[in-house]
Amino acid sequence: MSKDLDKPARAESGNIPEHIAIIMDGNGRWAKQRLLPRFAGHTKGVNAVNKVVEACCNRGVRYLTLFAFSSENWRRPPEEVSLLMKLFRKVLVLEINNMCQNNIRLKIIGDLSKFDTELKQLIQNAEEKTAANTGLTLTICANYGGRWDIVNACNELIRDGLDQDSITEEMLSSKLSMAYAPPPDMLIRTGGEARISNFLLWQMAYSEFFFTDTYWPDFDGKSLDEAIASFQKRERRFGRTSEQLLESSE
Ligand code: FPP
Repeated sequence: MSKDLDKPARAESGNIPEHIAIIMDGNGRWAKQRLLPRFAGHTKGVNAVNKVVEACCNRGVRYLTLFAFSSENWRRPPEEVSLLMKLFRKVLVLEINNMCQNNIRLKIIGDLSKFDTELKQLIQNAEEKTAANTGLTLTICANYGGRWDIVNACNELIRDGLDQDSITEEMLSSKLSMAYAPPPDMLIRTGGEARISNFLLWQMAYSEFFFTDTYWPDFDGKSLDEAIASFQKRERRFGRTSEQLLESSE
């Protein structure tokens, strides 16, 4: 991540989504197309992460949330899981200074209990070092699952001793692992699939979805601008009618 942040290419400067969530898919296919091992795609995927983080800082996006490792990804071949963990460690060690220089606050969410002590320590250090930064909040979802998050939140409410029938949507939201952020305005999924794969299930109730065939390693600031430009054309009604929206803006 360089300090020399590039300028918007296509998206209009108004109505930038405050929170963008991304399912970074297609690393394996990107590598396969080039007759490279799958892991080469993941390594290249880290470059794409850096580009998109920079672009988000430039465009004024406040929250960027990346699905790096799902609770289901443990089912992958052990060598790939182990290499992904290695890559995660590397990012946590090498990128923290850049994040501080760029005023980025890093958060890691998911069931971290499954990670080894060293990785847990690195996560804690990275979060602590960047905690006071006031620019982009970058959240990496690691061993994350939307269902896990909701069940966890319910269990916390029960632990708090709440009475039957007293739980509200606000209370449940407040116990989710990303309670510090507004819900994503837009979900981007690369790699040509059109599903949410147990990502932020609760929070995506009103997110705008953008699916692209581009493989994650090829996704960059220009691709982000295309997604934002599509977002800017959408009418977000949140259950209301177009006429009501017009009235309230007059
Ligand atoms: C999906 O592509 C990608 C992943 C499961 C891992 C994503 C990880 C990175 C981009 C690198 C690490 C990033 C951070 C922030 C630590 P896939 O392997 O399912 O691709 P395929 O569908 O083409 O096989």
